[in-house]
This record gives sequence, C-alpha cells and structure tokens, in this order.
Amino acid sequence: FSPIQAAVDAIARGEVIIVVDAEDRENEGDYICAAEKATTETVNFIINGRGEFCAPLLPDAAARLDLQPIVDANTAPLQTGFLTPIDHRSGKTGITAEERARTVREMARGDSVSGDFVRPGHVHPLLAKEGGVLRRAGHTEAAVDLCRMAGLAPVGVLCEILDDTGNRASREYLNELARKHDLKIISIEQLIAHRRVSEKLV
Ligand code: 5RP
Ligand code: CA
Ligand code: ZN
Ligand code: ZN
Repeated sequence: FSPIQAAVDAIARGEVIIVVDAEDRENEGDYICAAEKATTETVNFIINGRGEFCAPLLPDAAARLDLQPIVDANTAPLQTGFLTPIDHRSGKTGITAEERARTVREMARGDSVSGDFVRPGHVHPLLAKEGGVLRRAGHTEAAVDLCRMAGLAPVGVLCEILDDTGNRASREYLNELARKHDLKIISIEQLIAHRRVSEKLV
C-alpha cells in the first residue's frame, strides 16, 4: 500500500486513488476522488469501475441539499447511507461524465442549494458519519475523511471496482490496476491507524 500522506496529496491534486476496506467487511476496492476536483476525465475513468457512482457527504451538506434516505428503514447489511439521487439542473440527462462531474462539483460548493438539483438523478449521495472512519470503517467515511485531510470540501466521489468477469476485484487485480494507471492504493485500516496516531488518540 501507499503511505496515507501520499494518498492525501493525490486527492488534493484531484487524482483518483483506490481504497480497499477490510477483507472481513465488503472486501472491495473503490475508486475515490474529491468532488470539488472532479473533471469529465476523472469521472470517465472512475465509472470504468462499473459499480455505483456515489458522492459521500456529511449530515450538514445533506440537510442543506434536502437529501433524504432513499428508504424509510435501511435493511442493507452494512447500512450504507443512500440518499435521494440527484443531477445538477444544468444537465440534459445527467448521466454523462461531464454532467456527473458538474453535479458533484456543485454538491461540494458550500453555497449550493436544494433547488440547484433535480431528483431523481444519477449521482447517489451517501450519508457519512461525523467522525469518519473512526466511527464507521466504510468507503463512505474514507472518502469524506480523505477530502477533509486534503484541505478540500468534505464531499467525495466513489465507485466500486469490478474485475473483467464482473466479480468483486481481488486485491491482486486492484494492485495491478494501481500499477497500470499509476494510482495510489490504501486500505481503510491504514487510514484509521493514521488518524489515531496523527490525532493523538493512541
Ligand atoms: C455504494 C456502496 C459501496 O460499497 C460504497 O463503497 C459505500 O459503501 P460503504 O461505505 O458501506 O463501504 O455500496 O454503492
Ligand atoms: Ca456496498
Ligand atoms: Zn438516465
Ligand atoms: Zn464500500
């Protein structure tokens, strides 16, 4: 794995990184970048992961944009916090890489409001726990933490990575992808350990 600081620096530059969760959790690798820095090119790359295109954010942003849980009772095993899917109102259909990049960039602006977006759309906001990966060891919180640590708005972009057969990409496959595309790759366990030390919680 890459050092956490190298991953944070990459996020600050607007690059895409790979983040894996624990092998006894989802055991998945997601592409992650900062919403504020998202471009047509980075979004076009990220959707090659072929998972769901999501934008993790904190409760205050969810409230500002009037994003509600998409179900009343969340029975998903890991309680992933899917909210109302949205598109920026300036888009035509909302699905293109350019349109989805604009949607997430506008979500990351502290002054965007509910009426700037149409619903339902093609970007899935995910509600992150305050406290980040120290509260919940998911990709949702990892994305928000990484943006915050990079000094950017705490809104991320993520998409799970499938392999060529459509299965969850193995660690080996993810390492190969990271090498091929020169991407930083980190684990959420590493991020938790890094935060504990740097915030003097150990
Ligand atoms: C959204 C998901 C992904 O697994 C994503 O990584 C967010 O979930 P979590 O925070 O539970 O890891 O299900 O499509
Ligand atoms: Ca999941
Ligand atoms: Zn559509
Ligand atoms: Zn995940």
